[in-house]
Amino acid sequence: MCSLWRGFSLPLTTSLNRRFLKCCRQLSRSYNIESCIPEAVAFQGVSDHSGLYKFSVNESDRFWGAVARQRLSWISPFHTVQNCDFSQGKIKWFEGGKLNVSVNCLDRHVHTSPERVALIWERDEPGTEVKITYRQLLELTCRLGNLLKRQGVRRGDCVTIYMPPCPLAVASMLACARIGAAHNVVFAGFSSEALADRIRDAQSSTVITVNQGVRGGKVVDLKRTVDQAVQNCPSVQQVLVAMRTENTVAMTDRDVPLEEEMMKEDVVCEPVAMDSEDVLFLLYTSGSTGKPKGLVHTQAGYLLYTALTHRYVFNYHDRDVFGCVADIGWITGHSYIVYGPLCNGGTTVLFESTPVYPNPGRYWEMVERLGINQFYGAPTAIRLLLKYGDEWVQNYNRSSLKTLGSVGEPINTEAWEWYHRVVGDGRCPVVDTWWQTETGGICIAPRPSDPEAEIVPGMAMRPFYGIKPALLDTEVVTGDGVSNDSTGALCISQAWPGMARTIHNHHQRFTETYFQPYPGYFFTGDGAYRSKEGYYQIVGRLDDVINVSGHRLGTAELEDVVVCTIIIMFSVYVFVVLKKAVMVQEDVLAQQLREMVSRSIAKYACPDFIQVVRCLPKTRSGKIMRRVLRKVVERNTDELGDLSTLDDPDSVHEVIRGHQRLR
Ligand code: PRX
Repeated sequence: MCSLWRGFSLPLTTSLNRRFLKCCRQLSRSYNIESCIPEAVAFQGVSDHSGLYKFSVNESDRFWGAVARQRLSWISPFHTVQNCDFSQGKIKWFEGGKLNVSVNCLDRHVHTSPERVALIWERDEPGTEVKITYRQLLELTCRLGNLLKRQGVRRGDCVTIYMPPCPLAVASMLACARIGAAHNVVFAGFSSEALADRIRDAQSSTVITVNQGVRGGKVVDLKRTVDQAVQNCPSVQQVLVAMRTENTVAMTDRDVPLEEEMMKEDVVCEPVAMDSEDVLFLLYTSGSTGKPKGLVHTQAGYLLYTALTHRYVFNYHDRDVFGCVADIGWITGHSYIVYGPLCNGGTTVLFESTPVYPNPGRYWEMVERLGINQFYGAPTAIRLLLKYGDEWVQNYNRSSLKTLGSVGEPINTEAWEWYHRVVGDGRCPVVDTWWQTETGGICIAPRPSDPEAEIVPGMAMRPFYGIKPALLDTEVVTGDGVSNDSTGALCISQAWPGMARTIHNHHQRFTETYFQPYPGYFFTGDGAYRSKEGYYQIVGRLDDVINVSGHRLGTAELEDVVVCTIIIMFSVYVFVVLKKAVMVQEDVLAQQLREMVSRSIAKYACPDFIQVVRCLPKTRSGKIMRRVLRKVVERNTDELGDLSTLDDPDSVHEVIRGHQRLR
């Protein structure tokens, strides 16, 4: 095995961490806004959290201008803080400024603390973690940057990265940033067809991958998936292949052995001066219609927003160990494994395994072994783990934990209470963080706030600095906000630096999806409730985008594959209408449909339930009544609502009878 995967071991100074923890607790008792946000000194009249929040939304230019000057290293200063117009979907921040994101994430920390650990790669097998210092990560990044240049990658190109969480994946992302290329990380659980779609849309000439992945004790042939994908991607000229396992894989003329070639390169790579609004990356995500869309994030605003949210939502302090267990293939991984923590000079964990490997104590054993201070995960995993019982948690020392985070879907009260009481021993704030691929970073979360402010279970609660949410009436689009203690369409009424700038090659789709539904507002696609006290709770999607195990999936995308109609809750439920002449056994059909979805999208998207029906409940104008199907599946048949527009009333009863048989 190549030494890149083995070396880099540096002991973390845990005693230092403990001393620092004590110091942080003292700090929080004697709360002072300027020790929290030093820029506040310049904001007249701001003396507490609520004053700072008001300032950030009312004096948005002054707030963001000050933090951008303070927290990012600029090659040349910006002249305009923001230049945004929602009616055209125009979002520009820090125009005139030049910077390099990799310099902000690496070089400046190498100058001050070269031996600080940047990455802890928590490999699949417990106890085999690898630590990479800032100096080492900069070297890897520079070698990779030089290799990409040698292979012909230029400023403005887009490199597709198909890798599990590992140091070379992070170095690949940062190497792109260093030489001015954009990256397009594709979750390594996606099928070859889904990967090919994304490579083609991004027009990548270079793909970076590993020979095999290792997850939950199983080996996954990632290079083989890439081989299949690139057969249908004429743009691809080369595939750089890193070696995660010792197994050799077939290499073609197009393939480049990554470690071997990067070791020939110099450890110095001149960073390119990028404009604030140059593209940093594309990230594909599901929409309610059509193919997945490549959301575009740019340099300065995104970096600043992820760094600021990382520090204040999680109360991150220097030398804390930040453990976000997401995959780098999702926005959570981009923002809170890579860019936010590294911009802050933090130590960030790359988790390669699963919550139950080798047993359901994995997360908490890791927390003890690595001394994790902030743990950030998904409700779906918490729900799974609570079923295994408290001993799996209590077997391990979790006293290092200070903040527990949740993301991706609503966290139900039972899961929230368990997370808080058992995992956090009742002493760690739980931050339920609401945001999206489109928002770039966390927009609503219980913290920051005044340090003693209440946290309500299952509620994201408070907008972050600079975020001005609005709840709009979903029935009449008047542009009027609804009052407190009601629900509405969650919108955001002014721009913030982390928001996506466009959809790659489809700016019109961008404006239509996010800015036209409620003119003057960014529409999130989610519904939310605002309590009497003004706290937000996310109710769920208002469109046909759904969450499957914390991953986003569009019904349109699935229907593209199964050519039938689907309705979904936490799992995927497929309704199939067969063509008249088709005779097929239902279990055979189910098997075939599952294989098709797995091949075309990913395993996680596979339907859990498949029900064959004669016809679907439709309105007289031919629209499928998904609302009705959802109620049937949720077993809420008393709440089917108004069925007067149904074309064939019997269809609903047939669906109900079929559903009961399936149970
Ligand atoms: O519906 C919301 C849900 O996840 C969607 C965004 O998905 P994605 O772009 O994949 O990003 C996931 C990670 C940020 C949102 O529109 N969602 C996200 N966080 C929460 C949530 N729903 C409820 N509570 C949350 N905390």
